Amino acid sequence: MRLIFLGPPGSGKGTQAKQLASRLKIPQLSTGDLLRAGVQSGSALGREASKYMDAGKLVPDDLVIQALLARLQQKDCERGFILDGFPRTLNQAEALDKAFQVKRIGIDAVISLEIDESKLLERLAGRRVCPNGHGEWHIRFRPPRNAGECDVCQAPLVQREDDREESVRVRLAAYRADTEPLKKFYAGQKRLRPIQADAPVAAVAQEIETLVGKLS
Ligand code: AP5
Repeated sequence: MRLIFLGPPGSGKGTQAKQLASRLKIPQLSTGDLLRAGVQSGSALGREASKYMDAGKLVPDDLVIQALLARLQQKDCERGFILDGFPRTLNQAEALDKAFQVKRIGIDAVISLEIDESKLLERLAGRRVCPNGHGEWHIRFRPPRNAGECDVCQAPLVQREDDREESVRVRLAAYRADTEPLKKFYAGQKRLRPIQADAPVAAVAQEIETLVGKLS
């Protein structure tokens, strides 16, 4: 199964893609995670990407396309994968199509998480992450066992730099300008599958399961 999760920041792409990928036993490939790992390790990609990410801007296409296409070459992607947060521009979508044409493979569906923008700020402002990479929580929707502490290593949870309100507004504007037009692109390919994402995590997951069940 090869799927793309499309949606604005905070729509639940990561939350849903991780769950489904684990059930389908295929990798979830998040370009956000890939870039943050680069920032953490201090790689050339990470150093360049962090200039854009902290401000909420999209990282230039050439860098992201190169990183994602290299990751897709790895063996664990042979049985399928879920792309979370890629493509985000028309250039990226076209580069992906080109790479797939060479391999003679295609995307089964583009799952578009639909949610009113007014709900996103609360989701993003309340997210807290473990600085040691043990996962993420939400102060209201998924609170840790002890307030402000990672459930795994007890480190104080932190807020992602780009979850601050000023950066979130830039991310939403980038979504509207560069990513939302991809819905038309994939609708034209008859691959777009809208899902109502303004519901509890389990309800959204159920709707996605039903959709995926019809694809296989
Ligand atoms: P990335 O990490 O991909 O950020 P994003 O798309 O902005 O996605 P988020 O992780 O913020 O939201 P999400 O939709 O995954 O929601 P989540 O499940 O986490 O990218 C970060 C940056 O990297 C970009 O801004 C850009 O700079 C760069 N980048 C990445 N990919 C790129 C690309 N292809 N091209 C160029 N640049 C790129 O949930 C969010 C919160 O809501 C969580 O706290 C969660 O617990 C909560 N939540 C989730 N679902 C629900 C629900 N149903 N009900 C209540 N709360 C919920």
